[in-house]
Amino acid sequence: MELWPAESIWEAVSPFLPGFTVEVLPEIDSSNTELMRRARAGQTEPTLLVAEQQTAGRGRLGRPWQSAVGDSLTFSLSLPYAPRDWSGLSLAIGLAVAESLHGGIGLKWPNDLWVADRKLGGILIEAATAGGRSQVVIGIGINIRPRPAEGLSTPPAALTDLWPQATAGAALLRLMPTLVRTLKDFEQQGFAPLQARFEVRDVLRGREVHTSDGLRGQALGVGPTGALRLLQAQGERLIDSSEVSVRPTPPDTP
Ligand code: BTN
Repeated sequence: MELWPAESIWEAVSPFLPGFTVEVLPEIDSSNTELMRRARAGQTEPTLLVAEQQTAGRGRLGRPWQSAVGDSLTFSLSLPYAPRDWSGLSLAIGLAVAESLHGGIGLKWPNDLWVADRKLGGILIEAATAGGRSQVVIGIGINIRPRPAEGLSTPPAALTDLWPQATAGAALLRLMPTLVRTLKDFEQQGFAPLQARFEVRDVLRGREVHTSDGLRGQALGVGPTGALRLLQAQGERLIDSSEVSVRPTPPDTP
């Protein structure tokens, strides 16, 4: 397969996204930043922007996103988007990516792809309003081949752990049609129809977890809007903020 199967992706996706274009850039600060700039400037055509290298990749919660050139897939998809309810969108996108790539990929609420308790990839969703219409920019970063831990407490997972022949181009071709179909369905129906499928891949369900804003409890799964159900001594609490991160609590933590 050629490095980036742009033509095949375009053929598979353009019937569902009129005006769709595919662009591959050797280097950019961040594919999300670039598509947000374009959206704010009124360029709202559905666009897939693949970045071979990002010099200022961004993760959630203002964190940087580092990716090894040639060993990772970093791209963003921008399109006009007006769902009735945005809640659960990151879960729906994670599900589309996981289901299209491999049965062994788990989902960690709200935005992470996990394999064997290690991070495989992440999703950054941003929205802009252009000419009175809403536009979404969905950025996805996936480790394709293993890379050193680089100061992280656990080394990240790689797609080749599960799919030894995986390349960034092959992964992108596999996931794009499912991603676009999922976005179209979500726009009409929201997260509720996906709740049961999310549950199958939910890596936190049943585990003790803690949140970045100091909550602890047992993760019970997600509700019909994609909110995390947290069981605490006082009862069940729903967490729907995208401003928190959640991690499993190690068993020996007091
Ligand atoms: C996260 O896990 O915090 C989200 C990571 C999202 C990374 C992707 S890589 C392509 C796109 N461009 C960016 O700058 N970020 C997203």
